[in-house]
Amino acid sequence: MPKVSFPEKFLWGAATSSYQIEGNNIYSDWWYWEQHYVGIDEKSPKEKSGIACDSYNRYEQDLDLAKILNHNAHRLSIEWARIEPEEGKFDMKEVEHYRNVLKAVKSRGMSTFVTLWHFTLPMWVRHKGGWKHPKTPHYFARYARLIAKELGGQIDFFTTLNEPIVYLAMRHVEGYWAQGDLQGASQFARGWIGLLRGHIDAYKSIKKINKSYKVGIVENVMYLEPAVHSLWNRLVCEIRKILQYRVFFTLIGGKFDFIGINYYFHDVVGPFDFLPKENNLSVGVERSDWGWEIYPKGIYEAVKFMSAFKKPMYITENGLADEKDEKRASFIVRHLWYLHKAIEDGYDVRGYFHWALLDNFEWAQGYSKKFGLIEVQRYNFLTRFIRPSAYVYGQICRDNEISEGLMKEYSLE
Ligand code: FCB
Repeated sequence: MPKVSFPEKFLWGAATSSYQIEGNNIYSDWWYWEQHYVGIDEKSPKEKSGIACDSYNRYEQDLDLAKILNHNAHRLSIEWARIEPEEGKFDMKEVEHYRNVLKAVKSRGMSTFVTLWHFTLPMWVRHKGGWKHPKTPHYFARYARLIAKELGGQIDFFTTLNEPIVYLAMRHVEGYWAQGDLQGASQFARGWIGLLRGHIDAYKSIKKINKSYKVGIVENVMYLEPAVHSLWNRLVCEIRKILQYRVFFTLIGGKFDFIGINYYFHDVVGPFDFLPKENNLSVGVERSDWGWEIYPKGIYEAVKFMSAFKKPMYITENGLADEKDEKRASFIVRHLWYLHKAIEDGYDVRGYFHWALLDNFEWAQGYSKKFGLIEVQRYNFLTRFIRPSAYVYGQICRDNEISEGLMKEYSLE
């Protein structure tokens, strides 16, 4: 079992998003939603985000930990609602705040991977109808331009949107994340068009500031597998791939310099599953605390599928809820082994970000899902505690390889 090495300059890090870790994002629609809907029914938020991990104030400390763990890159997001709390009024103090955060990342020798929209909107955009409003792409592009102009020098990789399709499916198909909003196909379609245009407009406005800025988009890519290998079932699975991914990426028309892939689990598509099923947890026997299947081979398949778009790829999220940290190290090593196999087979993957650096606020689920390489002790003044698996990952980041010892420990060949 020889060690396996990753390409030179491979990016290694962890991901976060502003709303999930910063705390007190009071101008955001999600904040408003939490104040009004906590605990109303099974689809409403389980708890409020409140101070979150207080990373708005403690980011230096968090980044020190990432540095200790040998990360050479860091994925984070900027909260639009902080930058533009009122329509057209940009808060330059908040721009300064993010400048400091980005400088703090850079000064620790890490590349910056910055998401401009990770599920939350300023409340004033929500009042207009969110992504369904015809002018939202324009507003988003205006915000993106400001960030590119002010902070572009500190940003190595821009990503416009995080998981647009998941966001729409959660809101308009499954009815989560959206009390007070409508469900149904026409809502979905309007949001879809808004997000598509939002990406394209933001891409163009960032490029206008500086053509050499790298701009990509992040999508959650499930490996879709037919339940039965009949011609019909394979066809249904292909239709799902077209509807879920191909149309969107094709219509973007090459306006992305790279793709960010979030991979969590795969989905077995039955002969009549034209739409994603709620909580399809698939067939895997091994599961996370949240019941999500653990299926390392799917990362290979996700990369293979997205390689059709012929752009460099980065794994921008991959992780699991595992409070006791019993499965995380093995999860990471096995996923990375498959990722390495994909690279060996010629797929252009250039980085991996584990979700997440810290335990954080998991959207409608609240704080019960512990995704962090680092535990955040909520009962103990949000004290950070590095989980043992983080060191295993840290060793891989440092050496740019999965060592012989790890290969042996996890029976990889
Ligand atoms: C992804 C989201 C991320 C986090 C993980 C668990 O879909 O992008 O914010 O919630 O799931």
